[in-house]
Amino acid sequence: MAKDVIIACDFASGEETLAFLDRFAGEKPFVKIGMELFYAEGPQIVRQIKDRGHRIFLDLKLHDIPNTVKKAMRVLSGLDVDLVNLHAAGTRAMMEAALEGLTRPDGTRPLLIAVTQLTSTDQAALERELLIPRPMEEVVLAYARNASAAGLDGVVCSPLEAGRVHEACGAGFLTVTPGVRFADGDSGDQKRVATPARARELGSDYIVVGRPITRAADPLEAYRRCVKEFLA
Ligand code: C5P
Repeated sequence: MAKDVIIACDFASGEETLAFLDRFAGEKPFVKIGMELFYAEGPQIVRQIKDRGHRIFLDLKLHDIPNTVKKAMRVLSGLDVDLVNLHAAGTRAMMEAALEGLTRPDGTRPLLIAVTQLTSTDQAALERELLIPRPMEEVVLAYARNASAAGLDGVVCSPLEAGRVHEACGAGFLTVTPGVRFADGDSGDQKRVATPARARELGSDYIVVGRPITRAADPLEAYRRCVKEFLA
């Protein structure tokens, strides 16, 4: 898959999301549908956006016992999405079960990636709340190796970790990176951030950009700026 910018459509309703996508006229950006929108509107919103010609990353971050995740992934494989995810913290057994569930009878399946550590988690929270007394990068790389060993296609990680993930898991192992901010923008709750240009230099395959585009005065202009900086 070629490198691209994915817009995180973190809206509360389908109406708001479709109105937002209407602003992109002829352009069909790759979009991410997350929990908020999916829980509000259900699978119908996925079909509607797909019918408009967008590629879709369904970001539901599954994390449960292997059998439950396998069955949930079987349901999601019936939706024509391009990319889905889960938490690598669910263990290798859960990731293998997920892949099994996701694979359709004809052998095709959406790409499956794992969340390593959320980009909103910092070293202090890792140690004090998750009780993982190791450097963040080491944790991210270990989780990425587990995902790769389970047969997944890549990970969600910070752009700052993309290069090391590729070194550890291979150039073809996808790095999908949120935590992207324009140099002159607000970082909000994201702690480990990079600009689109820096994310490119660091080796990100896909950048996931939400508020810098969705909350921009001119989202289409912000999206184009992002694409230009990232794909330059
Ligand atoms: O608005 P912002 O650009 O921060 O949006 C980033 C998106 O990426 C959000 O939808 C968030 O849930 C998601 N995400 C993240 N960090 C991860 C995984 C997903 O920020 N590790």
